[in-house]
Amino acid sequence: MSITPVPRVAVVVVAAGSGMRLAAGAPKAFVGIDGHPILWHALSRVFAAPTAQVVVVAPSDRQGDALSEVLAVAGDRRDLVSVVAGGATRQASVAAGLAALWADVELVLVHDAARALTPPEVFQRVIAALEEGAVGAVPVLPVIDTIKRVSGHEILAGVDRSELAAAQTPQGFRRDVLDAAYAASTEDFTDDAALVAAAGHAVAAVTGHPLAFKITTAADLERA
Ligand code: C5P
Repeated sequence: MSITPVPRVAVVVVAAGSGMRLAAGAPKAFVGIDGHPILWHALSRVFAAPTAQVVVVAPSDRQGDALSEVLAVAGDRRDLVSVVAGGATRQASVAAGLAALWADVELVLVHDAARALTPPEVFQRVIAALEEGAVGAVPVLPVIDTIKRVSGHEILAGVDRSELAAAQTPQGFRRDVLDAAYAASTEDFTDDAALVAAAGHAVAAVTGHPLAFKITTAADLERA
């Protein structure tokens, strides 16, 4: 009987942001929803999806707290987890997470802890796209609002919203492609898909989920 090898999947959960816009008095990943920090909620969904390794990127002074949360969620899969210190930008934090990946990891999903309610099915869709051969895959949702291009207080033009989509996480990539794109990057990007696209790769879109919204403001926290 032949066994199809399952690609080794790692999830890098970036949780090293300061949460300035949330203004909740703690780094965002450690602000609570229903008795558990945002990081705990994000990790409980990460562990519900198929994963080989989970790297949590935390503020350097909160690595112990991050380890407590990840161990609380990991159960008997505690050997899969590690916590590393983040950097000054999201991109630097992702790079710190990538540096901690095991040698045999083939597919990497990068996920914002702030998208704490992202359902496991979104992870599965991204992994499935990669297993079907995509170099990168990003969950997207249609843009609901009418979008305008503006300059100060002047509306310059409308933008055809059918061509637009809002990008979410987890964003998944072949590990070799993501490592090379990070090594080559000299600019700061707001997401990994932009960095990989700048390196010349096509990135696939998969269906995102309304619950994968990013908790950024106090109103988002209330909604979560
Ligand atoms: O700041 P932003 O909302 O784009 O953050 C998205 C995600 O990136 C959050 O989960 C945040 O914790 C993480 N991040 C990070 N290191 C930074 C900035 C943001 O890990 N320096």
